[in-house]
Amino acid sequence: MRLYLEMSFFDQIDTANVPQHIAIIMDGNGRWAKSQGKERIFGHFNGVEAVRASVKAATKAGVKYLTLYAFSTENWNRPKEEVEALMNLLVHTIVQEIEELNKNEVRLHTIGDTQSLPASCQEELRRGMERTSGNTRLNLILALSYSARWELTEAIKKIISDQVKPQEVNDNLIHTYLTTKDYPDPELLIRTSGEKRISNFLLWQIAYAELHFTETLWPDFNEEDFYKAICDYQSRERRFGKTSEQLTSGDKLLTEKQ
Ligand code: IPE
Ligand code: IPE
Ligand code: MG
Repeated sequence: MRLYLEMSFFDQIDTANVPQHIAIIMDGNGRWAKSQGKERIFGHFNGVEAVRASVKAATKAGVKYLTLYAFSTENWNRPKEEVEALMNLLVHTIVQEIEELNKNEVRLHTIGDTQSLPASCQEELRRGMERTSGNTRLNLILALSYSARWELTEAIKKIISDQVKPQEVNDNLIHTYLTTKDYPDPELLIRTSGEKRISNFLLWQIAYAELHFTETLWPDFNEEDFYKAICDYQSRERRFGKTSEQLTSGDKLLTEKQ
């Protein structure tokens, strides 16, 4: 019993079946702060530690892509002071963390309408991406001023302006017009804070993702929570439309469609 209690979820992970790509909706900073009688921004500041923990856990578990929903297009509608504080936090965090990321062979990317971010954010992001461009251990993708409907709208505009013929339009072509064209689809999507919704995140890409919801508020999310989500993922049977019997009759490894 004692042994069981001390065992980390990390030890329970099947290393042969770790998701290549995990996406996280980091939610609950405001409630975390409020529960301590503090301003919402205090929660955002403390959320940075959970980002560090997730990056560390992803590298340790052998995840290759980690996408973090940090700011949605809808979040621009929050009070001006909160938006400003979040943008400042973003700049400071990148400046502060980039060497550590580089040391851990993490490559930084962004998806979203980043041109709408303040110039200082754009500049630090550009620098961070350039500084880490040679790294291959983990791809850390920050979704900033991102929403799936924005992404799909942009893709459709581009497909039309490229005069793509209707018969050429298929899953693969659409994939190449998305901001995530260089990354595989996430196999696992995590949302913290007990909310069970997608909030305009990666609608196309999560078509077959496993969803893991936890009550934990984002600033409290730690390495163990990350490994626990992977274990939950590994307990699922991914059928991709097939029957369970088909999977157990030998083609279990061919579960990816096509
Ligand atoms: C997530 O926490 C961070 C962002 C959306 C930027 P929230 O700020 O949404 O926290 P809650 O949901 O209000 O508790
Ligand atoms: C989703 O969280 C966006 C991010 C985590 C960046 P929100 O807190 O904005 O989502 P809703 O509005 O409650 O659905
Ligand atoms: Mg929220």
